[in-house]
Amino acid sequence: MKSLEKKSSDSAKPVKKEDRGAGAAKKSSISRDQALELLKKYNKEPFHIQHALTVEGVMRWYAKELGYGEEEEFWGITGLLHDIDFELYPEEHCKKAPELLREAGVSEDMIYAVCSHGYGICSEEEPRLEMEKVLFAADELTGLIWSCALMRPSKSTMDLEVKSLKKKFKDKRFAAGCSREIISQGADRLGWELDELFDKTILAMRSCEAAVAEAMERES
Ligand SMILES: [Fe+2]
Repeated sequence: MKSLEKKSSDSAKPVKKEDRGAGAAKKSSISRDQALELLKKYNKEPFHIQHALTVEGVMRWYAKELGYGEEEEFWGITGLLHDIDFELYPEEHCKKAPELLREAGVSEDMIYAVCSHGYGICSEEEPRLEMEKVLFAADELTGLIWSCALMRPSKSTMDLEVKSLKKKFKDKRFAAGCSREIISQGADRLGWELDELFDKTILAMRSCEAAVAEAMERES
């Protein structure tokens, strides 16, 4: 979650092959159960839990979609934990996270990825890998998509089309807290047109909407 203005616009480059990360597929150093427990230790607000579960689901979808199936757990758990410090330490967002995550045994590559989602706002870690660029772009966009979904009779992403999302994206008064600048910059970093980012992220949210709703039902 990012609510502050971007400091500056960095030169955006499309994802290159070398950004796909070298060597073995990334593995999470903690299990999904441990990660969920850690999330709940620092987050009690249902809105924050729902956002974390949504970004997890979106990251899992993207891992498979972009050819990183072996890293699905790493992508998903990074998504689940990306805002770990936001509820209790909003003024230290992305600054407190390394301490909380290190204590729990989270590896440095995942900590870097978590911090990089706040690049230019509350962290200096630039998104380098494709998964970090996806997290940067999709985190902010999931907020806008969910706001659009809630305006619909269905209250769902299942019948939300790119066309409606584009309209709401252009209407700066709608869900004004979702930064259009960050979303655009996120698409640039990935080397995608906005439409592609919109289309994929809607599909990603559809893929996990029911599971997130069920998990939230169990929480209440
Ligand atoms: Fe977030």
